[in-house]
Amino acid sequence: MVDGLNKENVIITAALPYAYDDLHLGHIASTHLPPDILYRYLKLNGRSVIQVCASDDFGTPILIAAERQGKDPGEYVKVWNERFRADLGRLGIVYDAFDRTSSPENVDMVQRFFRKLNENGYIFESEVEQFYCETDLKFLPDRYVKGKCPYCGAEGQYSDGCENCGRTLQPGQILDPRCSICGRPPVKKKSLHYFFKLSAFSSRLEKWLRENEGLQSDAKNYVLNWIKDGLQDWDITRDISWGVPVPLEKAGGKVLYGWFDNHLCYITTALKAAGRLAGGGEEFWNGSKVYHFIGKDIVYHHYLFLPSMRLGEGEFKLPDFIPTRGHLLLLGKKISRSKKWMITVGDFLERFPPDYLRFYLTRIVPQSQADSNFDLQEFADKVNNELSANIGNFVYRSLVFVKNKHDGLVPAPGTAGADERSVLRDLRLAAAETGILIEEGHYDRALKRVLEFSSRCNQYFQRKAPWENLKEEPTAVYYSCNLVAGLATLISPFLPFSAAEVWRQLGFQGPIEESGWASAAELRVEPGRRVGELKPLFTKVEEKDLAAVRVRLG
Ligand code: 2FM
Ligand code: ZN
Repeated sequence: MVDGLNKENVIITAALPYAYDDLHLGHIASTHLPPDILYRYLKLNGRSVIQVCASDDFGTPILIAAERQGKDPGEYVKVWNERFRADLGRLGIVYDAFDRTSSPENVDMVQRFFRKLNENGYIFESEVEQFYCETDLKFLPDRYVKGKCPYCGAEGQYSDGCENCGRTLQPGQILDPRCSICGRPPVKKKSLHYFFKLSAFSSRLEKWLRENEGLQSDAKNYVLNWIKDGLQDWDITRDISWGVPVPLEKAGGKVLYGWFDNHLCYITTALKAAGRLAGGGEEFWNGSKVYHFIGKDIVYHHYLFLPSMRLGEGEFKLPDFIPTRGHLLLLGKKISRSKKWMITVGDFLERFPPDYLRFYLTRIVPQSQADSNFDLQEFADKVNNELSANIGNFVYRSLVFVKNKHDGLVPAPGTAGADERSVLRDLRLAAAETGILIEEGHYDRALKRVLEFSSRCNQYFQRKAPWENLKEEPTAVYYSCNLVAGLATLISPFLPFSAAEVWRQLGFQGPIEESGWASAAELRVEPGRRVGELKPLFTKVEEKDLAAVRVRLG
């Protein structure tokens, strides 16, 4: 259970991965790693924070995938849920709760929202023409139909949205439709559907977008344009069996569309993690700062559907921040499952330690919707020249002195001189400035600031030259050990495995997470402390490692 409401809680969510394919580096770059940095930093500051995610279980893509394997969709999604947790955990991304959109608690939450929206007059019924396959004898929503995008003309698009131009498509809009099970052209047949009155929220959404300073301006601008173009009411039901049943007798077994239920799982899971599902959930949610981290392909859903549904339901506040990052390109090209142009988390971790990925992605992904590019040579250069040659080098050269010259015991210093006072001042400044950059969402710049400080530490060591300036050697080594401890705290939101390793090498027992951000600038390594077993923190990425990845990508 998190703290009471006397102190503001923070709720952080990451967009929910669809339960039908592996997580790849694109998911990590935009959606899972940025929030984890913020989460770890806030925790180090003693803030009451929970971070949640879930698998996005419902919808036609998952049903189709389960059917292809002859599996029950409920069993099928559980396997993916486990796999997501395992992959993310191996990257050090651990959620306070990682639920499923198909959990009974979320199904309750979704039905509660539907009933409330219905009571409040935001749901209406309408007969719509749906694609129907006379061979397979079923209605064909969303991914059950493929065809040509009516906006940009791209072929092979699913009927609910175009991957090429990013537009969301309404049922029936797709051109030249084909059943994705048998490939035959479907017919159109009438079906009764439920609609959400999105159009009723235009002016409230506009006000929220204009007044909320926490929302990213690059996303805000084009969302405001969509509102100006006019919002269409939204068909929220599907004629399939896998989804949250519409909680009305007369709905006859229809289910809700995946984008109606999935974001509600942010609320369900946060309340679950906070132990507030049974009562007091609204109070907890509304007394918290709420962040939803997403990639730019789901802006429409998070800046329009999600806030409108909350406004219409009336009990849960809107997000304060929706950090929205661009796509990750892979060697300059768009990541594509169908073309197998991707590196999964599992593929990456077969060859490299998790912090290498955390480091490189944090370095290259800005807080904006601009795309970033995963380049193998740049990855190797940054790991070798920055992580290893800068941070790794300073830690190792400092601690090796303790081992070789002082029998593994941190020496007692002489009086601190101008150099020591100056580098400690820089440490305080680095901790303060890095913290501000993290709070502002600039994780790339924050990490760069830590690297600058690490360079400064190397300069201090170089200037003191303890290998020849023997009189001042104990003082230089003592202060260097303390700078190493400071650096360990500063890297820990970004590089938790390396930070823990430095902490162990410094001979500390407890987890570094408990040490506190503010203590980074204190002299925590006392004379006489025994350092642990030493080994270099990072090994170089070599050409043969890169070649293996290239082979894998074909
Ligand atoms: O686009 C996607 O991958 C969706 N599964 C994201 C869902 S986020 C949410 F639940 F709002
Ligand atoms: Zn068919």
